[in-house]
This record gives sequence, C-alpha cells and structure tokens, in this order.
Amino acid sequence: MRIAIVTGASSGMGREFVIQLEKCMKTIDEIWVIARREEKLRELKEKFKGIPLKIYSLDLSKKMDVNILSHLLLAEQPEVRLLVQAAGVGYAGSFADRTRQEAEEMVTINNLALVSVTKVVLPYMSCPSNIIMFASASAFAPQKDFAVYAASKAFVLSFARSLNVELTKKRIKVTAVCPGPVATEFLDKCNEGQQEKLMKKLVKVEPEPVVRKALVDAKAGRDISVYGTPMKFVHVISKIIPTGILLRFM
Ligand SMILES: NC(=O)c1ccc[n+]([C@@H]2O[C@H](COP(=O)([O-])OP(=O)(O)OC[C@H]3O[C@@H](n4cnc5c(N)ncnc54)[C@H](OP(=O)(O)O)[C@@H]3O)[C@@H](O)[C@H]2O)c1
Repeated sequence: MRIAIVTGASSGMGREFVIQLEKCMKTIDEIWVIARREEKLRELKEKFKGIPLKIYSLDLSKKMDVNILSHLLLAEQPEVRLLVQAAGVGYAGSFADRTRQEAEEMVTINNLALVSVTKVVLPYMSCPSNIIMFASASAFAPQKDFAVYAASKAFVLSFARSLNVELTKKRIKVTAVCPGPVATEFLDKCNEGQQEKLMKKLVKVEPEPVVRKALVDAKAGRDISVYGTPMKFVHVISKIIPTGILLRFM
C-alpha cells in the first residue's frame, strides 16, 4: 500500500496539501492525516471523496502519540511516498513577555516532533519519495520579538538541507518550505492580543499558491521552496546584509 502522510492536516497549509494531493498524486492509495482536532479531520474526509483519508488524532508534542504512529506503521507496513510535516506553532512577542509553556511548545512541536516523526517514518519511505518540512522565511535570519520561533525554523531549514544531501543515495528528496505570512489560523494565534504589523499585512498570501509551489519544487528535487517575490527578496538580502543590521529592521 502506497501512502502519503500529512501532519498538521486539520487546517491551513497542511489541509491545503491534502486538497492538492487529491488532485495531483494519483499513485497513492491512502493519505494519513494527523492533527489533534479530530472533528476538523473528519470534515476534511467528508469533503473529499477521491483518495481515502485515514484519520489519526495525535498530539505530536507527546512522545506517546509519536510512538502510536510508529506502531501504526509497524502494523500496516506501508510504502510512504510523501511525508509532509506542516504541524507547527508560533507566538510573536518579546521572549520575556511570552510564557515558558509557549516557548517550550514552539521548540517541542516545530523541532522535537518534526525530528521524531522523520525518524519514525523514514524506514518506510520508498525510493524515490519526498519529505516536505515547513520551515519559514523567519528561518533566514534571527528575528527580534519572534526569537524562539525564528530559531526553531532555522533549525528546520538546516535539518532539511542536510538530510536532503544524506538521503540522496536513497533517492529521497527533502524540501524545506519557507513562506512569509500566510492567511491561516497560525497568524491569528500568533498575533493574539497584538496588532498585526503593516508589512506582514501587505505581503500576506493565501495557502493555495504556497502549497502549489512547494509541490512543484519537491517534484523538481529542490531543497528549498520560497513562494513570491517579497520572500525571495528577503531570502537574498538575508545572505548579503549582516545579521546585526537585519535584526534592527526585521
Ligand atoms: N501561516 C504563516 O504565516 C506561516 C508562515 C511561515 C511558516 N508557517 C509554518 O507552516 C506550518 C503550517 O502552519 P499553518 O500556517 O498552516 O498554520 P495552522 O493553520 O495553524 O496549522 C497548524 C497545524 O499544526 C497542527 N498542530 C499544532 N500543534 C500540534 C500538535 N501538538 N500535534 C499535532 N498537530 C499539531 C494543527 O492542528 P491541531 O490544532 O488540530 O492539532 C494544525 O493542523 C507551520 O509549521 C508554521 O510554522 C506558517
């Protein structure tokens, strides 16, 4: 049985991935969709009647739930053609003002869970296949008032690029998706209690083209996917302008 696994499938870009896979990945038999909110995953399943969806309500910040995924894979022995890791959280604001729980949640879900899920799924990945991980344009440089999040996404970008080279022999391509602001629940949660910055409002995009580009880039074997001129510009200047100066303006 050939499958795709999508984490963070209950909303935003993970959900959008499932929608687009329905249309473009005809060679898979099932999509395993993972997130905490089961009712949202059920809604998605009811809406789409193409590739069967298997729903797994798991909290990936819990080691026990990642173990459940591991046991499921062991029992079913699927051939994983695509792993999309979209589960993630972000909280804006100064480090001193946010809670310890919020800081720990970012590192746990954005990094620890992402690494653990990769480790658990990798033995079942076929050759060729793809892993798509959500980093962010915040990965390009450290960011004040988004310190933990930007650091967590720099980790994802670094991890994805190294892994892409390591897995070349196995013909497994790893792509880090690095969007700027995207109109999803993420932004509402992230900016809760604070005003959204004008710059972010101006460059905000919908999930659909970001995911479409990510799929094209993954298919082309690129290790990084950056959608839109503003974020491509940010990517380039982050390589040219010294970090100390960037930190003052970003
Ligand atoms: N939106 C943006 O502006 C933006 C920009 C750059 C990068 N990103 C990154 O893109 C990825 C997707 O975000 P999005 O914008 O699509 O946000 P979103 O709509 O909030 O989706 C996040 C997904 O992660 C899942 N999730 C969160 N914590 C989880 C946990 N402990 N266990 C399992 N699933 C969990 C959520 O599902 P449940 O709540 O149901 O568990 C949800 O499905 C994230 O990694 C985010 O950091 C977003």
